[in-house]
Amino acid sequence: MKKNHHIIVFFFSLFLIMRLGSFVSCSEETKVYIVYLGEHNGDKTLKEIEDHHCSFLHSVKGTTTSKEDVRASLVHSYKNVINGFSAVLTPQEVDMISGMEGVISVFHSDPHAIKLHTTRSWDFASLLEGTPLVNSREELLKNANYGEDIIVGVMDTGVWPESSSFNDEGMGPVPKSWNGICQEDVAFNASHCNRKLIGARYYLKGYEAFAGPLNETRDFRSPRDVDGHGTHTASTVGGRRVSNASAIGGFAKGTATGGAPNVRLAIYKVCWTAPDQSLTEGVTCLPDDTLAAFDDAIADGVHVLSISLTFQSETKYYTEDPIAIGSLHAVKRNIVVSCSAGNDGPTPSTVANVAPWIITVGASSIDRVFSSPILLGNGMIVEGQTVTPIRRRRLHPLVYAGDVEIRGTTASNTTGTCLPGTLSRKLVRGKVVLCINNVREASMEVKRAGGVAAILGNSFNEIQVIPFLNPATVTFLDGLKTIVAYIRTEKYPMATLVPGNTMIGTKPAPVMAPFSSKGPNVVDPNILKPDITAPGFNILAAWSEASSPLNMPEDRRVVKYNIVSGTSMSCPHVSAVIALLKSIHPDWSSAAIRSALMTTSTINNAVGRPIKNATGDDANPFEYGSGHFRPSRAADPGLIYDATYTDYLLYLCSQNIRQVSSYNCPDKVPAASNLNYPSLAIANMRGSSRTVTRVVTNVGKDNSTYILAVSSPPGYIVDIVPKILRFSKLGEKHNFSITVTAQSSIESRNEFSFGWYTWSDGVHMVRSPIAVSSSA
Ligand SMILES: *[C@@H]1O[C@H](CO)[C@@H](O)[C@H](O)[C@H]1NC(C)=O
Ligand SMILES: *[C@@H]1O[C@H](CO)[C@@H](O)[C@H](O)[C@H]1NC(C)=O
Ligand SMILES: *[C@@H]1O[C@H](CO)[C@@H](O)[C@H](O)[C@H]1NC(C)=O
Ligand SMILES: *[C@@H]1O[C@H](CO)[C@@H](O)[C@H](O)[C@H]1NC(C)=O
Ligand SMILES: *[C@@H]1O[C@H](CO)[C@@H](O)[C@H](O)[C@H]1NC(C)=O
Ligand SMILES: *[C@@H]1O[C@H](CO)[C@@H](O)[C@H](O)[C@H]1NC(C)=O
Ligand SMILES: *[C@@H]1O[C@H](CO)[C@@H](O)[C@H](O)[C@H]1NC(C)=O
Repeated sequence: MKKNHHIIVFFFSLFLIMRLGSFVSCSEETKVYIVYLGEHNGDKTLKEIEDHHCSFLHSVKGTTTSKEDVRASLVHSYKNVINGFSAVLTPQEVDMISGMEGVISVFHSDPHAIKLHTTRSWDFASLLEGTPLVNSREELLKNANYGEDIIVGVMDTGVWPESSSFNDEGMGPVPKSWNGICQEDVAFNASHCNRKLIGARYYLKGYEAFAGPLNETRDFRSPRDVDGHGTHTASTVGGRRVSNASAIGGFAKGTATGGAPNVRLAIYKVCWTAPDQSLTEGVTCLPDDTLAAFDDAIADGVHVLSISLTFQSETKYYTEDPIAIGSLHAVKRNIVVSCSAGNDGPTPSTVANVAPWIITVGASSIDRVFSSPILLGNGMIVEGQTVTPIRRRRLHPLVYAGDVEIRGTTASNTTGTCLPGTLSRKLVRGKVVLCINNVREASMEVKRAGGVAAILGNSFNEIQVIPFLNPATVTFLDGLKTIVAYIRTEKYPMATLVPGNTMIGTKPAPVMAPFSSKGPNVVDPNILKPDITAPGFNILAAWSEASSPLNMPEDRRVVKYNIVSGTSMSCPHVSAVIALLKSIHPDWSSAAIRSALMTTSTINNAVGRPIKNATGDDANPFEYGSGHFRPSRAADPGLIYDATYTDYLLYLCSQNIRQVSSYNCPDKVPAASNLNYPSLAIANMRGSSRTVTRVVTNVGKDNSTYILAVSSPPGYIVDIVPKILRFSKLGEKHNFSITVTAQSSIESRNEFSFGWYTWSDGVHMVRSPIAVSSSA
């Protein structure tokens, strides 16, 4: 602790120096950069490694800078598995270091803000398993010993250790392989770790080098979570079974449970309250802190890493993305890394965390709605949803926000959106107000202006519920139109909200979440991303008691469980299943586990129809990857597409990244699409045809025969040879080749076209999506 204080004081002054620097020296702007040097070759002591890192700084700052100042510019030195460091550098120094021997990449540690946009999700996941897997989830859990031998690292905003979800009752001793620590500091000591929460660390040096000292009235200088996001994701992976859990108002009541209730959790806090006070929401995470967390987590001995963060920025290279770099080193040690795809949908080409050694998870809905109809004065009932407590009231006058705005506060494109400060108190007091968008600010504006309740419009077929502070219900586009028409034709329009009610199984699910980031993959379109989808819409899990359901200063409510949405919520669902699969198949590689998850997933909803997106069209592989996960089926996939660390290094050769380890790229590097991936993408195919290869390994039964089925993408013919694979023993491998030929009639050449192929032995269905585009 003492040592930490030194560092903190020290970086505070560093920050001041940086700021002063911009006045004193003429122009040179200094920033924190990460210098990535690949992997350690194991021949140096920790001291020698740090000296080596400093030697880079000496050689660029050397002659005019004292030894102490050189060392002071070093922020992180990665010593365990990842070789590299972060330091305060000028653009000239960056140029010089970039050209030095052994340097793979130098990139700005650009802060990233995350904006946040279970009782039911596990039962729902079982529904999709299909027959004859009755009780399959309980069986899966039992076979995996509820995950008790597996350690999952969660990189996020920390944890609220007092949550019942993290109790360790009845759990065995901490696995002997564990090397981690329980880092003590503000409001966090060793007694906060237990046999469930076996480790906790925090990473603040990069944050403080960027933003100055942490404002300790706004966050805890420790692994403690002030936000709620980290507590939610950790409890989704591995929360214990807690009965009678519900969101505020009693919504979604039931037994809250993580996907692997006895898994061990190790918390790595890398995200902090945003430094800018004007930001009332969101957290800031620094790439160099995140890389430091990877370096520790790998050495600590985690088996799975669950990362609900994205750092993808304008520069789109694997070697400039801390999660891609960190997870490559993790995968070398067979740690499975599962990441959120991002919340930037439905815009195409937004998917993040796209490295092929990562499992990239999109988000979709479950079959639960929080029904809260709107009753109009003419007796009509309009469908609505809410998780805001509403008392039944009499009818009140109803107005459309666009008719009750203060003149001059809205532009034509913001009319009716209830932006802060736009509504006239005089016209709104005592009324129900219809706003056309579903955001918490809109409901708060109605409250501010004295409205009794808000009706909010939602432009998608799925409603993201928010625990508003004042009575508010969200309705679909159709409902919105109905209500507007009623207001326009009725002299005295009236309405009231009917209290909400949790309902299950009343509508087809899953539906893709509109915010779930979409492909194609912008780093390498020859790797199909996302990989899979899982529940991420209106998910109940544990929350930080230092936060509030809305996570806004105006909201003073304290809750133990909260409902939120995002790919941040779907990623830990998949991480939990990975932990169970690791327990059942300790010998499987991370690629094998991903393959099992992907090839057994489904593209149909619970009533057997194609999964739709949130505007009612059939969703495609750029939205759900291989489909919605089916945990029990993933335990017995039949065949797997395996890949080793060396395969990833060979793949990196195709991306012109050649120095991560001592591996030598061959003279003739295979095209990226040849990576033995469980899905197939061929982007910008030139010429009329392309052939790639795949290898499958038998993990089903000794003697089995798999027969091929193919659905070619429109405009292409897919030919796979051979069409029958005969296995006589477990572990046996077979190659096959896939030739994709463009038909001359092909209309739109740049658009991707989708298809699939499946190997089946009558018991297992091993399915792979195909995405192809070609350039003229
Ligand atoms: C650790 O924290 C707990 C709970 O806040 C407190 O009761 C306990 O005294 C602390 N232990 C030490 C050694 O500081
Ligand atoms: C720290 O945050 C609090 C609460 O937001 C604020 O009042 C205070 O001014 C901040 N302190 C600094 C040094 O920014
Ligand atoms: C469940 O929680 C509610 C409050 O949300 C409480 O009124 C009720 O008594 C609890 N039931 C049990 C069995 O603990
Ligand atoms: C749904 O899919 C259609 C067709 O691919 C697309 O045009 C639309 O934008 C998608 N909607 C969402 C919300 O993703
Ligand atoms: C409205 O239009 C203005 C000017 O074109 C733009 O800057 C603003 O972002 C728009 N606002 C919304 C909510 O679309
Ligand atoms: C698999 O087939 C071979 C040859 O047909 C036979 O010798 C062997 O016993 C079979 N193994 C099993 C487990 O059925
Ligand atoms: C699969 O193909 C690779 C190279 O194309 C070859 O080295 C390997 O031996 C083949 N494996 C099998 C099982 O045929």
